[in-house]
Amino acid sequence: MNVLLIGAGGREHALAWKIAASPLLGTLYAAPGNPGIAEDATLVALDPADHAAVIAFAREKAIDLVVIGPEAPLVAGLADDLQAAGISAFGPSAAAAQLEGSKGFTKDLCAEFAIPTGAYERFNNAPKAKAYVRRMGAPIVVKADGLAAGKGVTVAMSLAEAMAAIDDCFEGSFGAAGAEVVIEAYLDGEEASFFCLCDGEHALALTTAQDHKRVGDGDTGPNTGGMGAYSPAPVMTEELVARTMREIIAPTLAGMKARGTPFKGVLYAGLMITQRGPELIEYNVRFGDPECQVLMMRLKDDILLLLKACADGTLGSMSARWHDEAAMTVVMAAKGYPGSYDKGSRIAGLEEAARVDGVKIFHAGTALKDGALVAAGGRVLNVTALGPDIAAARQRAYEAVAKIDWPDGFCRTDIGWRAL
Ligand code: AMP
Ligand code: GLY
Repeated sequence: MNVLLIGAGGREHALAWKIAASPLLGTLYAAPGNPGIAEDATLVALDPADHAAVIAFAREKAIDLVVIGPEAPLVAGLADDLQAAGISAFGPSAAAAQLEGSKGFTKDLCAEFAIPTGAYERFNNAPKAKAYVRRMGAPIVVKADGLAAGKGVTVAMSLAEAMAAIDDCFEGSFGAAGAEVVIEAYLDGEEASFFCLCDGEHALALTTAQDHKRVGDGDTGPNTGGMGAYSPAPVMTEELVARTMREIIAPTLAGMKARGTPFKGVLYAGLMITQRGPELIEYNVRFGDPECQVLMMRLKDDILLLLKACADGTLGSMSARWHDEAAMTVVMAAKGYPGSYDKGSRIAGLEEAARVDGVKIFHAGTALKDGALVAAGGRVLNVTALGPDIAAARQRAYEAVAKIDWPDGFCRTDIGWRAL
């Protein structure tokens, strides 16, 4: 199978590394990729937003499967255009990607198909939104409807905070994503993530994984894309997984199918484990980053076979097996992230770090400059390790981190603390 992977982050490096290990693989291409991905794939200077160029490349190279990593090309309909051109793709249609692209869409689906989630209303103007907030009281959660790079959500502990968040949205802080606002009940409990592969009809639960969203130790400070992750995640017990599959995932797939927009790809449910059980906070329509990195480390089976089955609608007969070992990834980010940060600082010591037992380093935001590896993003490296348990994986990951010579980078020192 010839494969084209779309994306350029640590998630895509982990996918490339795992796809490259498949005996079914012919040639793996990545667009645009990064210097780490270049170890596993041939990089192609294709703009994923130029669907005609992606299709032309796929035809020229006889690509059997296009694996789409990030949400933006999915929401923009890349999978639809590939399918219309007769090219198989892993990832949902634009209509199904609305599960991530529009929070209001997902809440309406939950209401229609009795999927547990917080009570909510949708608004397209500030006065009505504010009147609702006054009626409901704080704490309450204000969300820009569209994709806002993880910044469109305010968990407001006071009415004033909620009002300010509503103004922010309608005054354009999140561009078009904030033209509509969802206001929802505050859910109390422990957060958990849940991933499953879907082929439009069947869902295959993946093993559990959990990330850390806050930038600082002790889960403090501003939200980020994720500063580290580990698998398995003890918070998702077998019973919770079974309930989530039954009460949340199954009705979602059935609902999407009934609406004529079946969901294919990876469904990433952000959950709140409340006293009533798991409730849906949000969906993403792609692998979590950096959760994907720990999932790929632990997957025993051929990822290519699983991804193709999602595209082909043959997931019903598939299973996924996992290594007993635990995995952890520590994100090294540029100082200043998630605020502003500099690019271009030199990174050294990766080879030595990668020699630590069980360690694999994925590149998230790197570039080559005059032959030297430099930082080229906020989240830059994912130092990932397998170990007999979470504590051992953590020890190895941090041992490798200590060998990396990058004065302009930082990482959290406590990834996995909740699991230990
Ligand atoms: P989201 O972008 O929807 O994942 O929201 C970002 C974060 O806001 C989540 O990870 C939660 O910590 C929090 N959050 C979102 N919705 C709620 C809610 N209804 N109740 C409590 N916390 C929430
Ligand atoms: N790690 C969180 C995300 O991928 O959205």
